[in-house]
Amino acid sequence: MRKIVILPGDGIGPEIMEQTLRILKAVECPFEYIEKDAGMTALEKHGSLLPEDTLQAIGEFGIALKGPITTPVGGGFKSINVTLRQTFDLYSNVRPVINLPGVQTRFDNIDMVIVRENTEDLYAGIEHQVDADTAESIKRITRKGSTRISRYAFEYARKNGRKKVAAVHKANIMKLSDGLFLRCCQEVAKEYPEIEFRDVIVDNCCMQLVVKPEQFDVIVTGNLYGDILSDLCAGLVGGLGVVPGANIGERAAIFEPVHGSAPDIAGQGKANPTALIQSAVLMLRHLGENERADRIMKALLGALSDINARTGDLGGKGTTRSFGDAIIARLG
Ligand code: NAI
Ligand code: MG
Repeated sequence: MRKIVILPGDGIGPEIMEQTLRILKAVECPFEYIEKDAGMTALEKHGSLLPEDTLQAIGEFGIALKGPITTPVGGGFKSINVTLRQTFDLYSNVRPVINLPGVQTRFDNIDMVIVRENTEDLYAGIEHQVDADTAESIKRITRKGSTRISRYAFEYARKNGRKKVAAVHKANIMKLSDGLFLRCCQEVAKEYPEIEFRDVIVDNCCMQLVVKPEQFDVIVTGNLYGDILSDLCAGLVGGLGVVPGANIGERAAIFEPVHGSAPDIAGQGKANPTALIQSAVLMLRHLGENERADRIMKALLGALSDINARTGDLGGKGTTRSFGDAIIARLG
């Protein structure tokens, strides 16, 4: 049986993880769940935010579902997300963005996926001081990095029945770096004739997204544009609190909500597990469990559209647990 590493995390993490695991078990996923510590809980127990034992389990089993982690105040701690990304070369950051029932937004019919390159670009942090008044950052783009993210996006589209891929870039200005990224996307696109491909310049893409977002299906883009576009798109469907994310590499994949540990509501039964449940759905799709993923997604959308079921942050009357019950009741 496939082993899944479970990192409940801090704050509301354990509460939303409990409901998510109940749902995964209700659809009888063929998984064994291996719980490990990360975050403040791990720091207190093992003296490290990300203990060696946790890293080893992720390395060995390859798949983790992660709750939010509280970032300790004060210096000296390396970002857990950066550590995980580097340790396992999680080159692909995937964020689906869909309208949810019960979440008021300006647009309907948004259903897209942003595939962001996660390891290079200006994000690689290659910077230097030229003189006291001048600093430079180097935008590093490689054929390998661009080809593998592009292939990931097209494979994702093919496996998930998506019809269109748009590459987002600024190759008209950064002719070498973004030019290389775009050429790699164009080359990979030829291998997927059934998927419609186009490229969009990033500034125009921003404008299109806030005017006619439903035109987008899969977006593939570099690290910095992806960072900005994925938050913009989250805003289109109700903010960072309801969207899931995945960090995927060849050897490992980690699925987690975008929101934080919400210490202000932790332990009160108020937390909305929607983003973590959707992260679990992404994990199921990654593992080819599309039927179970569809069942959970349908039940989640059903429960979200019921004011008595959904949680208070969405104007509903439910608690974390009763929302979990409402989803399980709708699994059919
Ligand atoms: P946050 O996302 O935890 O909370 C912002 C606001 O949204 C709060 O009012 C909170 O109650 C609400 N909220 C968030 N998730 C919710 C949910 N599932 N249901 C209902 N309400 C929810 O962001 P904040 O307060 O800036 O950060 C808190 C802690 O989380 C910090 O230590 C931060 O570093 C950490 N964090 C961790 C992340 C991760 O592990 N991936 C990501 C973002 C923040
Ligand atoms: Mg960001």
